[in-house]
Amino acid sequence: MPADLPLSVWPTAQQNARAQRAGRYLEISGTHPAKMLPAIAARAIATYSAPGDLVVDPMAGIGSTLVEAVHLGRDAIGVEYEPPWAELARANLRHAASQGATGHGEVVCGDARRLPAVVDPAAVGLVALVVTSPPYGASLHGRVTARPGQGIAKSHNRYSTDPANLAHVGLAGLLEAMGAILAGCARVLRPGGYLAMTARPYWSAGCLVDLPGALVRVGEAAGLVLYERNVALLAGLRDDHLVPRTSFFALEQVRKARARGVPRQVIAHEDLLVFRAPPISAGSATDATVVRLPQRVNDPSARRAA
Ligand SMILES: C[S@@+](CC[C@H](N)C(=O)[O-])C[C@H]1O[C@@H](n2cnc3c(N)ncnc32)[C@H](O)[C@@H]1O
Repeated sequence: MPADLPLSVWPTAQQNARAQRAGRYLEISGTHPAKMLPAIAARAIATYSAPGDLVVDPMAGIGSTLVEAVHLGRDAIGVEYEPPWAELARANLRHAASQGATGHGEVVCGDARRLPAVVDPAAVGLVALVVTSPPYGASLHGRVTARPGQGIAKSHNRYSTDPANLAHVGLAGLLEAMGAILAGCARVLRPGGYLAMTARPYWSAGCLVDLPGALVRVGEAAGLVLYERNVALLAGLRDDHLVPRTSFFALEQVRKARARGVPRQVIAHEDLLVFRAPPISAGSATDATVVRLPQRVNDPSARRAA
């Protein structure tokens, strides 16, 4: 196998989430209900951008994308709708700077659906990479507190109650919003720039909802070109076996399903969908001729064509 052949399965949970964040993020970051594993953000940034590039996360949360970007010498802009999370992301960026991160990061509090209007106009068309993850429904995440004799209490599972927070809008509303967000990303990306987005299927009313597949279609409708579809492991790899790092909620759902006789498995990965903004041939952006991008070996549409 050639040494530079890109791997489509990323070992991004060799350490558990707490160990990945320890010391690198402020302790209070644990209160956010749906954080990206820092190793996923770091690997995407190292793979699809270069030092000095500009990286954006339109739904920045605690700033995982931004913190990993500035540690890798990239500059970063985050947009986050909820003021407390935006402030926490800024605090995490200050913490990264105090640890010697060389990139510059900033966070804007705003609505990702208006991305090109929300970020610094000078950045539009210059972004090398977007790394992001959409908000999921409450069943998949949150914090758990065990109370002796009272069982488990779940908290921090829905962000705020503001309806503009996309965790509240249901699947159709989320896909519509993601259409606007990805179209905005296509505008802020430089020609040929990358967008890497994590997504997982989830169960709803007894059906497995193929959120990654739906997001592929939304991204393509927004003018992006699917480039790779990778697997970011949420389980550790040790020799020839997996080390489970399953969340409480995933385990709880599987246990309840099995108790009803439904043979469900725990999902141990996230899809990492990678798109590219089309390169533009010589000529104006309004009269653009789109040039086909090279397809990678792990792009399913390339396999189908072969
Ligand atoms: C899955 S979390 C992102 C977590 C982030 N990758 C991290 O590691 O911290 C999604 C984030 O999107 C934010 N969000 C929801 N609706 C938004 C909107 N309309 N505009 C911007 N951010 C939004 C939520 O508040 C939440 O912090």
